[in-house]
Amino acid sequence: MAEAIAAKPAAKPTPTPKPTAAAKPATPAKPAAGHKEESKGGPTDAELAMIQAPMTRREFLNYGFLASLGIFFVALGGATFIFALPRFGAGEFGGIFDLGVAGDVIPPTDAAPASKTAARAWISNTDQGVIALYNVCVHLGCLYGWQPVTNRFECPCHGSKYQKNGTYIEGPAPRSLDRFVIRFTDADGKVLAETNANGDPLPVPDPNAQLVVDTGKIILGHSHG
Ligand code: FES
Repeated sequence: MAEAIAAKPAAKPTPTPKPTAAAKPATPAKPAAGHKEESKGGPTDAELAMIQAPMTRREFLNYGFLASLGIFFVALGGATFIFALPRFGAGEFGGIFDLGVAGDVIPPTDAAPASKTAARAWISNTDQGVIALYNVCVHLGCLYGWQPVTNRFECPCHGSKYQKNGTYIEGPAPRSLDRFVIRFTDADGKVLAETNANGDPLPVPDPNAQLVVDTGKIILGHSHG
């Protein structure tokens, strides 16, 4: 009776599935050579390289040259501005003297010249017009004076003598007296007449005009001999 119990064949082991290529984790692809990495808002590698690169000698010299050029032009502009300013103020010798109304300050043609000490000038009125003579003798710089007896200017130092209009008469002086440029202006300051380059006497255009002496502009007297 014993029935042999047929043994059941053992179950075959289930093969473990091999991982497929699809299951492998993806390897990030390398950027191709020469491919520019996309910027995400910041500088690129190339820009960073430029920023961090040290200044070359040529660049340094160029910057130095430009800086020197800038300083030069600033200094030149400053010097030009300073030299453009008037060196003397009004009423200061070397500057402008407003002597007043022509009819009041200019002596008649038959009167003695008027001395204007502050302006270092003699205002001399002749038949040809008005002259402002520099009151320093052109020989060695003494102060000459008007001599009513002889009706001429005479220098006390070495005896040079000059006519009322400043023309040399005699003595060691090398030339006639020097003179200043004068102007006649109206109430608005407009110039009505001005001494010419030769320094000739200037007729009065209007007795109500202002007489202005420019002691910054000296016209040398004519040499004699
Ligand atoms: S300084 Fe006037 S004549 Fe000599």
